[in-house]
Formats: sequence, structure tokens, C-alpha cells
Amino acid sequence: MRIEQPEGAALDPLAGRRILVGISGSIAAVKLPLVVSALAKRGAQVRCVVTPSAAQLVSPVALASLSRERCYLDADQWCHTAPRPLHVELAEWAELVLLAPLSATTLGRWVHGLGDTLLASTLLATEAPVLAAAAMNTAMWGAPAVAANWQQLQRYERVLPLGPAEGLLACDRQGSGRMADPELLVLALESLASWGWQRDWQGRRLLVSAGPTREWFDPARCISNPSTGRMGVLLAQAARLRGAEVDLVHGALQLDPSWLEGLNLHPIDTGAQLQRALEQLQPQADAIAMAAAVADHRPARTLSYKPTKAELDAAMCGPWEPVPDLLVELVSRRPTGQRILGFAAHSGDVLPQAQAKFARKGCDLLFANPIDQPDAGFGSSTNQGWLLGPGDAVERLEPMGKLALAHRLITALGAAL
Ligand SMILES: Cc1cc2nc3c(=O)[nH]c(=O)nc-3n(C[C@H](O)[C@H](O)[C@H](O)COP(=O)(O)O)c2cc1C
Repeated sequence: MRIEQPEGAALDPLAGRRILVGISGSIAAVKLPLVVSALAKRGAQVRCVVTPSAAQLVSPVALASLSRERCYLDADQWCHTAPRPLHVELAEWAELVLLAPLSATTLGRWVHGLGDTLLASTLLATEAPVLAAAAMNTAMWGAPAVAANWQQLQRYERVLPLGPAEGLLACDRQGSGRMADPELLVLALESLASWGWQRDWQGRRLLVSAGPTREWFDPARCISNPSTGRMGVLLAQAARLRGAEVDLVHGALQLDPSWLEGLNLHPIDTGAQLQRALEQLQPQADAIAMAAAVADHRPARTLSYKPTKAELDAAMCGPWEPVPDLLVELVSRRPTGQRILGFAAHSGDVLPQAQAKFARKGCDLLFANPIDQPDAGFGSSTNQGWLLGPGDAVERLEPMGKLALAHRLITALGAAL
């Protein structure tokens, strides 16, 4: 059964998809009801399969209730009234598989071709893409046998493996082993639905800037903009899920922090700090996506104390100075072969303004988007615009989810390399 969908769901790559959620015996299984609920609310059809160990840790009744479907257990496989084997039915039904948490045992079964649970045999039988999120104790994760099995999985087609994150584990160890956050699982599943599992950015390094900068009058007041960083962070995650090593230089973000997992983070605040970070990180990058919303001007002098209102009025009247054009700086010192994608946010007639900017900046690609349209620009979950490329090429990108758009832009940037 599917839940009635809100407006705009047509642009959601998860809406209407048949998603099989396989849950194995890790304590992280307790987080899966949240994921199942989130997927069902986005209009996906969700069925859950739990191993006997997982059924000890998370309630199959809760999973059935949140997915609006029955939850499948090992015993269901041996039902004498079933006309076809259940593992084959489920494997063929699934358009996408989320395997989370992936335990050491289920990983071992999978890569050694053993099908001795309903989940293990379904995994062997399915031809759908699988997002696999490992979770286990740090020492188990480091065990040579598990490491070898995980290594083996990296070679599988149709599989997007999400290694565990660092953190405090339920076993009281601090280290690697924590399952990717539920929000990130949903994002990675959306990536699988809109792009696929291909790791065409493997071996490449991408530098992304995202979010707003702030320019300070005094310790309490600044000039900034409403950028949330969503577009830039999704570009970074899209490239990372396609195998890239990603440096993200970011201002104050208004996003779920789990979307930052797996990225090399370089927080900044002002345009000057962004400028320094870009100078340091540019030489290592194969490509750059300059999505940060940088303030154009800053007070020429920042007061070290909080002034009276009258003094502040005077400070706001000037003097001001321009913030250097960071995109032009990147272009002017780029090493041979490095490709640069710029962004332009405009109101009114976007395309002619973007074309003039593209000619001025000298970057390889420029994505221009309106900020005065519904469902586009700052903070919205969807976006649209024009992608300008070499030889006056202009591609119109119709409204789509920002992650799908991020994949389109990463594809264009990759093709330019
Ligand atoms: C409370 C508890 C937590 C566990 N957490 C994990 C875990 O995070 N990762 C893991 O690989 N095994 C974990 N195990 C061990 C597995 O449940 C055990 O290896 C089991 O054989 C896994 O089988 P399955 O993959 O069929 O679910 C845990 C066991 C218990 C009792």
C-alpha cells in the first residue's frame, strides 16, 4: 500500500519505487524503522526482510506497520501454499535493495555465495542495484576476513557499498563501525534511484565550495545571504557516491549534518577564509564546483567591539570594499587539465545575464538558476536552470530534485575532464 503523495512528489526519484529493505543482525537495526517510515512517506513501496538475528533486535511488527506491508521472516520461506519460492519473488519484485545494517555474517554469506537465510538467498537471486551499509564493532570491521569480504564487494556491479562511519559504538568502542546515518541512507538510495551504482569518479578528486559567506561589521552583526548549502553539499555527495575523493569548503550550513559523512570538511566563515582554503586545496583537485554564495562586498573595517546603534549606522554607510572574484581567481591559476564549474544565481531574465557572466569568468561550465521562481534557488529541494558550456552550448535543465541535478552537473564536469 502507498501513502497519498504531496504535490511535487513527481520529481522525487523514490516515489513509486519498489524498495526491498534487508536487515541483518546488527544493533544498528533499531534505526531501520525510521528509514522505512521515511521511504514510505516519500511514496515508495517498501517490503522488509529480516534475518533471525535482526528479528531479535528490531520489531518485525513495527517494520510491517511502518512499511504498510507484511515483514518477511525466515519461516515464511517454507510456506507450503506459496506457488513460487519467496526469495525469488522478492528478488524479482525489488527495483532497489537497501541492505542495512549489513552484518559481518550476512556480508560473508553474500560474497561466498551462501543462501542459508531468506535474506541471503534473496541477495543472490536479485538483479536489482543494492545499497549496502555495513555496521559492526571496530575490531570486527578490522578483522582480516571481514576486510577481505568487503574488498570483494567493491568489485561487484550493481552494488553501492557504504562503509561505516567513525563514532561511539553501542559496544562502547570509539572508532569505525557505526552504520551510515538514516538520513544519509535515504540520500544514497535516492542517488541509486536517480544515477545508479557506477563509480565513474573513482580516482578523481573534486573540490566543492558550498553555503554562504558572512562579512562582519562587528562581533555581533554581519552581512550574508540565505544559501543553505544544499546544492553544493549534494554535488559533493553525488561525486563521493560515484567514487570521488571530495574536499568540501563550506560556510554556515542549514542541513542535516549526516549529509556531510564521507566528505573532507573545511569549514570557513568569511570570503577571505574561503579564498585561503581554495588557494590551499586547488592544486590537488581534478575539478572544482564553485557553488558557495559569496558576498560581493564587505565592510572595509571590522570593529572589534559591539558599537552603539549610531556608530553602527555610520559603519553601515561605508566604506565598503569588493570581495575578490574567487571564481576568476581559480580560473586564472588553474593547473593544466583542471575543470571548473561555476554557479550563477539571478532574478529576472536569467539566460542573457548568465551568458555575459560566463564570457567574463572563463570557467569551463556555468550553471545558472533563477532565485525568483517557486521550487528553485535558495533552500528549495528542487532546482532548474541552464548549463552553459564550451562553444556557446546551452542546455536547459527542467525542474528536478537537487540530487538528480547534482548528478547531471557531475556528469557534465566528468565529461569535460
Ligand atoms: C546485541 C548484538 C549486537 C550485534 N551487533 C552486530 C553488529 O553491529 N554487526 C555485526 O556484524 N554483528 C553484530 N552482532 C552479531 C550478529 O548478530 C551475529 O554475527 C549473527 O550471526 C548475524 O547474523 P545475520 O547476518 O544473519 O543477521 C550483534 C549481536 C548482538 C547480540
